[in-house]
Amino acid sequence: MQKRLIVTIDGPSGAGKSTVSKILAARLGLTYIDTGAMYRCVAWEARRQGIAPDDEPGLEELCRRLKIEFQWTPAGNRVFCNGTEVTEAIRTPEMDMLASAVSRVPAVRRALVQRQRQMGESGRVILEGRDAGTVIFPDAELKIYLDADPEERGRRRHREQQQRGTAMPLAEVVAEIKKRDHNDSTRAHSPLQAAPDARVIDTSGMDIDQVAAAITSLIEEVDSHGN
Ligand code: DC
Repeated sequence: MQKRLIVTIDGPSGAGKSTVSKILAARLGLTYIDTGAMYRCVAWEARRQGIAPDDEPGLEELCRRLKIEFQWTPAGNRVFCNGTEVTEAIRTPEMDMLASAVSRVPAVRRALVQRQRQMGESGRVILEGRDAGTVIFPDAELKIYLDADPEERGRRRHREQQQRGTAMPLAEVVAEIKKRDHNDSTRAHSPLQAAPDARVIDTSGMDIDQVAAAITSLIEEVDSHGN
């Protein structure tokens, strides 16, 4: 049996978490768990059902019934919500803000954290999110906290939006990033923060290959312990 390897990658939006997590998962044969996509699914389904982001009992019930599935394809990770593909639909600027809003709700966090633990528990996984190393797996074998200055993160998000054809003006993207940072790091429950034992990497001046190489060495180091 292979030994357990849980790698958590936390940090604010646009720090490069998703891109680097996908590269590392493919390179090292780890299962990639995109915890942010799960909050986006709750947001998408809440909007579809007309449930307000502050209606905690409504969201709790929604989470109980919500089926979230990930499907791997060579073209990327596809996401399904109660059987409907939402891969693109959960990435709009509207869903950015709504996901941030529902992620403040304690009942939503409880429901998703429980699922995330089940998904990761026994395996060799890389979990990407805001609370992966602080709340979901405080005993992870390796915790990474990726950061970058807000302007740089705004430029990266803007480029992604341009590729999807849904770009807002750059200044607005930066302003939204700052607003989301504020929401995510000042909320009462599981705010965005680095675990005390996380390795903090500032990706501002780095390209994605450099970030991936730095984390690969850390993973290999941890994974070879005790072998
Ligand atoms: O990583 P992302 O942008 O897809 O995340 C969407 C929102 O969900 C983001 O505003 C923060 C929230 N989130 C969270 O609170 N905890 C997580 N583990 C992942 C995301």
